[in-house]
Amino acid sequence: MTKYIGILTAGGDSPGLNAAIRGVGKTAFGYYGMQVIGFRDGFRGLVDNRTVRLDADNLAGILTVGGTILGTSRDKPHRMTVGGKTRDMTDVIVENYEANHLDALVCLGGGGTQKNALRLMQKGLNIITMPKTIDNDVAMTDTTFGFDTALGIATEAVDRLHSTAHSHHRIIVVEIMGHRAGWLALGAGLAGGADVILLPEIPYDTERVAEAITKRVRSGRNFSIVAVAEGAMSQNEAVRFQAAEAKKAKAEKKSQKKEARAELAELAQQHADHTLGLSRRLEELTGLESRVTILGHLQRGGTPSAADRLLATRLGTACTDLINQEVYGVMVAARGEGTEAVPLEQVAGKRKLIPPDHPWIASARRVGTNLGD
Ligand code: F6P
Repeated sequence: MTKYIGILTAGGDSPGLNAAIRGVGKTAFGYYGMQVIGFRDGFRGLVDNRTVRLDADNLAGILTVGGTILGTSRDKPHRMTVGGKTRDMTDVIVENYEANHLDALVCLGGGGTQKNALRLMQKGLNIITMPKTIDNDVAMTDTTFGFDTALGIATEAVDRLHSTAHSHHRIIVVEIMGHRAGWLALGAGLAGGADVILLPEIPYDTERVAEAITKRVRSGRNFSIVAVAEGAMSQNEAVRFQAAEAKKAKAEKKSQKKEARAELAELAQQHADHTLGLSRRLEELTGLESRVTILGHLQRGGTPSAADRLLATRLGTACTDLINQEVYGVMVAARGEGTEAVPLEQVAGKRKLIPPDHPWIASARRVGTNLGD
C-alpha cells in the first residue's frame, strides 16, 4: 500500500529547512515509493488545505537554498485568528488530514511547533517532527538545524566589529538572537573573542560589566566588544520576570492565568530595547563611546552551512525511515553521529538552556571573558 505523507514548516524560518524537506521527500518517493504533499505556511495552510505536491522536479535544487519553499507562519492550531476571532482549528486540521488520506504528518519546527505537534498527536494523528531553530533551544536533541549557519553569521559579525571598535576606541554592543536561550550569543561571543558575553541564563550586573571594560582600558585596551543575547537581562529584570512566571505557573483560574500572561507581556515590552539602554548605561559608567549593532534576521537568512545541510539531510532521511516503520508521535533528534526517535511528550513544553557547568561557559571564564556576574 502506498503511504501518503504531509509535510509543513512552522515557526521562524531557519537555514536547512529545504534540505530537510528534500531529505524527507527524496527518501519517501525515490526510495520507498510514497507520495508527499506539502502544506503552505505552517499550520495555517493545513487549516486552509493549501497544498503542493512534492516530487523530483520541485525538490531539485533546493538543498542549498535558505528559508523554506513551503512558507511558514507562527499560527497555532488551537489558537488561530480566523475572521478576526481567535479559534481552535484542531478539528479542521483533523478533517484535512483525513481528506488528504495522510498516513503521517511531518512538522518541522522549534519548541512551539513541538507543542502544537503533540496536541495534534493527542487528536489521533500520526505525527513526526524534526528540531529546527537558530536558537538551538529544543529539548532532547544534541542540536537543531539552522544553529550552525546562524552561529557562523554571528561570529563573522563579531569578528568584523573588532576592527571598527578598535579604531574608534569604542564599546560595541552586538545583540544576537536566540529567544530565551543564550547558545547563539555564547557560541559567537566565544568564537569571535567578545570581551563580555551576556546571556539569559546568567542575569547580569551592569556595574560589573562596566568594571570589566574599565579594567581593559587601564591595561591599554580601550575598546570592548559586548555580545548580548536578545533574551539577556539584568539581575533586577530577572527577578521581576521570575516572579511573573511563577505567578503564571501557580495560576489556577483562567482569569489569573490571563493576568499573569499580561504581566509577562508588559515586562517583555519593557525589555524590547534593553540593548540600547545597556549601551547608554555603559557609556555613562565607563566614559567610552558606545555603539549598538542588532544582527536581527540577518542571522536566519541565506545559504545553510555544510553542517546544517548534513544535519537536516540526516534527520530528514531518518524521519522517512521511521514513517516506513510506522513509528509516530516522536521527534527525530540528533544524537551523536546518528539520530534517535524521542517521544513528543518528552520534548513539548521544555526548553534547552545552557547549563551552568557547560564547557563553553567554563572556557569563556578561563579566557577572561566577563559574563556579567
Ligand atoms: O526562533 C527564532 C528567532 O529568530 C528567535 O531567535 C527570535 O527571538 C525570533 O525568532 C524572532 O521572531 P520573528 O521572526 O517572528 O520576529
